[in-house]
Amino acid sequence: MTRAQAARQVKAGIYEVGAIDRDRRLFDELIPLPDGTSYNAYLIQGSERTALLDTVDPPKIDLLFEHLEQLGVTDIDYVISHHAEQDHSGGIPAMLERYPGAKVVTNAKCRDMLMDLLCLGEEEFLTVEDGQELSLGGRTLRFIKLPWVHWPETMASYLPEDRILFSCDFFGAHLATGTLFAGEERAVYEAAQRYYAEIMMPFRGQITKNLEKIKDLPLEIIAPSHGPIYDNPRFILEAYRDWVSDKVKNEVVLAYVSMHGSTKKMAEYLAEALIKRRITVKQFDLAELDLGKLAMGIVDAATLVMGAPTVLTGAHPLAAYAALVVNALRPKTKFVALIGSYGWAGKMVEELTGLFTRLKVELLEPVLARGYPREADFAALDRLADAVLAKHQEIGIAR
Ligand code: FEO
Repeated sequence: MTRAQAARQVKAGIYEVGAIDRDRRLFDELIPLPDGTSYNAYLIQGSERTALLDTVDPPKIDLLFEHLEQLGVTDIDYVISHHAEQDHSGGIPAMLERYPGAKVVTNAKCRDMLMDLLCLGEEEFLTVEDGQELSLGGRTLRFIKLPWVHWPETMASYLPEDRILFSCDFFGAHLATGTLFAGEERAVYEAAQRYYAEIMMPFRGQITKNLEKIKDLPLEIIAPSHGPIYDNPRFILEAYRDWVSDKVKNEVVLAYVSMHGSTKKMAEYLAEALIKRRITVKQFDLAELDLGKLAMGIVDAATLVMGAPTVLTGAHPLAAYAALVVNALRPKTKFVALIGSYGWAGKMVEELTGLFTRLKVELLEPVLARGYPREADFAALDRLADAVLAKHQEIGIAR
């Protein structure tokens, strides 16, 4: 099925009825969406009752209603809310207005957040516990708490009769596509990795526990709330296990900004020196930063090198911004080094290292050049490349 804006059948009696948002380019006014996104909502029809799993971002609510009309849905008994963030919950008040008999089904924490965020009354809710089941007649929704993907209240629904896990943000991908099923598409893998890096990575430990919690569920389909549906769940489960594992790669993310070319020269020299030592280098110019690409780069790179000139005695603000973002994302990076050029004096190193409060990293010797780098500076960059190689050898990822 390729038509985007129509209700899409997942299986008989199960439909994706949400909205594809091809035009959205930013999420949370922070995260770039180069490929748009979708807000998936699922209609499940049992022999006695009908449930809607999540809604859509409020500006797209008319599309959800249109899809329900296409399917001839006149009654909805339950609106399941897996996550209080408004791209999934924001349509609930309008749903309740249109389907006044519906109850919002969620856990206590999510209920309280929905009452705060959407000004809903407690009487609108049916509150469920972890593992509790709700029969629709011939189909059963089992609620599974999977906290911190990526808010504290998040949960999923498992439909044992059809072996489908409705995982909400967990396993999602910001990808606007009319293709319903992911298969093993490279584009889906990359979008899911970008999503993991930007949204899930700070909660790596909790995600590991959640993967463990669902590992014995028989699964034919994982249906997230963003992007295509996984008809081969192994594809995304293996990717997640790899991303959350403690394994790092023999890679350096080299993110720099340069005003007059001196720091750029240092970054380029260091990149060559690392490549000569058979270390993969992912280079980013922070002046043209795509936050998502930087986040993807640090999913499993062993080392981060940041290059920053000194501005007004401190770090260039673009480098400070990138450092703040990396610190918030809490990658499993093990080593960090700073390089950069300065004019007369400065506190670039102190400022940037002071921003890495949440990273458990070993800081390598910085390399600072006064003005344009010269022989002694290049020699120091060679020593830094040697130090990176030695560290990678120590942890068994380089020869
Ligand atoms: Fe897709 Fe956390 O909302």
